[in-house]
Amino acid sequence: MKPGDAAAVEQLFNDVAPRYDRFNDLLSLGLHRQWKRQLIAWLRPCQGERWLDLCCGTGDLALALARTVRPGGEVIGLDAAGAPLELAEERRSVEPWLNVQWLQGDAMATALPNASFDGVVMAYGLRNLADAGAGLAEMHRLLKPGGRAGVLDFNRLPEASLSAAFQRQYLRRVVVPAAALANLEPQYAYLEASLERFASGAEQEAMAREAGFAVVRHRPLMAGQMGVLLLQA
Ligand SMILES: C[S@@+](CC[C@H](N)C(=O)[O-])C[C@H]1O[C@@H](n2cnc3c(N)ncnc32)[C@H](O)[C@@H]1O
Repeated sequence: MKPGDAAAVEQLFNDVAPRYDRFNDLLSLGLHRQWKRQLIAWLRPCQGERWLDLCCGTGDLALALARTVRPGGEVIGLDAAGAPLELAEERRSVEPWLNVQWLQGDAMATALPNASFDGVVMAYGLRNLADAGAGLAEMHRLLKPGGRAGVLDFNRLPEASLSAAFQRQYLRRVVVPAAALANLEPQYAYLEASLERFASGAEQEAMAREAGFAVVRHRPLMAGQMGVLLLQA
């Protein structure tokens, strides 16, 4: 599959959706939950605020944000694929008091109004967009002045580094074989291809400045295997 091919990416995540959460837990040893908690801790969402989770998938971050901004707050989770959104709504229905709405749409062109959110997050989405710069520009457009944003994803490491070798071996020897056992090999082989074309932390910072963000900082997580781009409009 060609990374950045919107229709193919949508199809991939529709196919993976029923097994996505279990696989994420298994392959990250549950650590993705910790990284998402860290992202939220850095962004400090407050009661009554309005937040947006772009590329929300099955809704991990949107649901966590909705728990944090209540009472009075509101969260929108947006994803291109319908199947993950159905699972997200199933999860929300267990906590019916959470104020979350799910929207199917494109993170690079949401059609949501300008300056309408206190905060925007995106986890493991930027790498999948056909144009990461367009995704960051859309985040900036949607934020109120001074609004915060955070982007969590794999960290693109210098090719020759030991950390990059570890990352490659982990994807090739752990992730893809584990996915093959569940007949999901092509879907997870895509991960390494999408990472190869992904921007480094410094490149993400430059793109975010270009998109208009006033405060920009890329922080490594888990010995540099993951990265978080922290932004303020
Ligand atoms: C790896 S999943 C991450 C899901 C969730 N944020 C998480 O961390 O578990 C990437 C998600 O991005 C969505 N996606 C990819 N391209 C998109 C786009 N252009 N607009 C909106 N969502 C998109 C996919 O459908 C998929 O659900």
